[in-house]
Amino acid sequence: KYANLILDKQFKIAEIDDRLYGSFIEHMGRAVYEGIYQPGHPKADPDGFRQDVMEMVKELNVPIIRYPGGNFVSNFFWEDSVGPKGQRPTRLDLAWRSIETNEVGIQEFNKWTEKIGSEIMMAVNLGTRGVADACNLIEYCNHPDGTKYSNLRIEHGKVEPYNIKTWCLGNEMDGPWQMGSKTAEEYGRLASETAKAMKLIDPTIELVSCGSSNTSMETFPTWEVETLMHTYDYVDYISLHQYFDNYEDDPVNYLAKSMEIDHFIKTVISSVDYVKARKRSKKQINLSFDEWNVWYHSRVGDNIIQTKDNEKKLMTMAKNPWRKAPHILEDVYNMEDALVVGLTLITFLKHADRIKIACLAQLVNVIAPIMTDADGDAWKQTIYYPFLHVSKYGRGTALLPALNSSKHDSKDYSDVTDVDSAAVYNEETEELTIFAVNRDLEESITLECNIRSFEGYTFSEHIVLENDNLKAVNTVFEQTITSKKLFDYEMENGILKIKLNKKSWNVIRLK
Ligand code: AHR
Repeated sequence: KYANLILDKQFKIAEIDDRLYGSFIEHMGRAVYEGIYQPGHPKADPDGFRQDVMEMVKELNVPIIRYPGGNFVSNFFWEDSVGPKGQRPTRLDLAWRSIETNEVGIQEFNKWTEKIGSEIMMAVNLGTRGVADACNLIEYCNHPDGTKYSNLRIEHGKVEPYNIKTWCLGNEMDGPWQMGSKTAEEYGRLASETAKAMKLIDPTIELVSCGSSNTSMETFPTWEVETLMHTYDYVDYISLHQYFDNYEDDPVNYLAKSMEIDHFIKTVISSVDYVKARKRSKKQINLSFDEWNVWYHSRVGDNIIQTKDNEKKLMTMAKNPWRKAPHILEDVYNMEDALVVGLTLITFLKHADRIKIACLAQLVNVIAPIMTDADGDAWKQTIYYPFLHVSKYGRGTALLPALNSSKHDSKDYSDVTDVDSAAVYNEETEELTIFAVNRDLEESITLECNIRSFEGYTFSEHIVLENDNLKAVNTVFEQTITSKKLFDYEMENGILKIKLNKKSWNVIRLK
């Protein structure tokens, strides 16, 4: 087995948009309540925000956070979430069969993002609401003063506008599970009219048109083409969502699933560019991969089953009682999930020319890298580490990784490379970082990397995440999976030879 990589300073994919390392907080489960916000907890600050969680989020350095949903947004009444807390109504959240108290709303969430140094990517409700409500919300958030909703914001104690730059036009509108789901024609018309009006209120914003909910939607990829035929002139991005699972417990096939993401990205790019050609447009629409992660460990327990039969799905969920902050989607991630997250990030870096935003779904407690014990500490899941490494060392320019690796086949994929890799050159710090996964389950593989164009560069560190047991997990009591450093390498005449252990995530830094 072999893996050879050639990297050249001059062979660039693109400057990486920092928003590639975005994330997502939805009003669901324990993401907000008992997640980021838990007044009365020993680690809560005077605003009720958990400082242990904030420290971890800051370490992950997520520049943008999508809010407030997800499926939740499709029946969200934003007016309920602003103004004096005591007067905010409690509502039924139909998406997750939950009780929403609105204790945390736009003002509180904005305060939290300021504390952690991030910005909001706001979604508007295009499920049960429409153009007027989206206009009112952006007037409330971004208009300086002197109008009904900007004055209301000022009355609520926020004099300066929030100036939210990035907005999602609804969420997964193709999905029959969505409140107010739409056909492509219905959504295309509504989204383009909403976009037009929102940009009249604030021409500086950027808008994301809803793409398909995942690659197995029957309407994929005609949905992309049909909706963009309406929205193309008014929007800046199209969204992609994808979650992975290993229900079949086939690690070889599971670790090949990043090829599905690659195929998804390429198909969306082709669809977008086809519409560009149809419209004789000069404008380029980029990709916002605003929901991605592994999600399956908790589904059965949550009564959120995976089935194409939507009625069955809804009826199963309807067995759950109405609860505030239910313990749902609390996947506990293992070693193989961390490898899949690493492989996905590698795939994103290889498409840095078109993916400008990506949001790991989600951030705290709900399919998240950070978990909290309501009576105890916050803790880091396995997937925390690859995300941390790429967010930390993956800023700069994505380089073309000319990779030649031995290959294998899996149940659903052929010609899967044993090693997958991406590289980032940070011109400011003059650092070169190689991210690599050895997805072979049996053998270690020596990565031979030609970096001759990086004259004088030497090895600085090799960070590794590995465990013989692919099912090993972290818990609130024990961090079984954390990164370590290895020093087993050779470097001569601009050729680096470094061992990638079987089933491992690797970060190789040179300077
Ligand atoms: O992230 C969990 C859910 O997954 C989101 O609410 C929805 O958009 C997607 O189906």
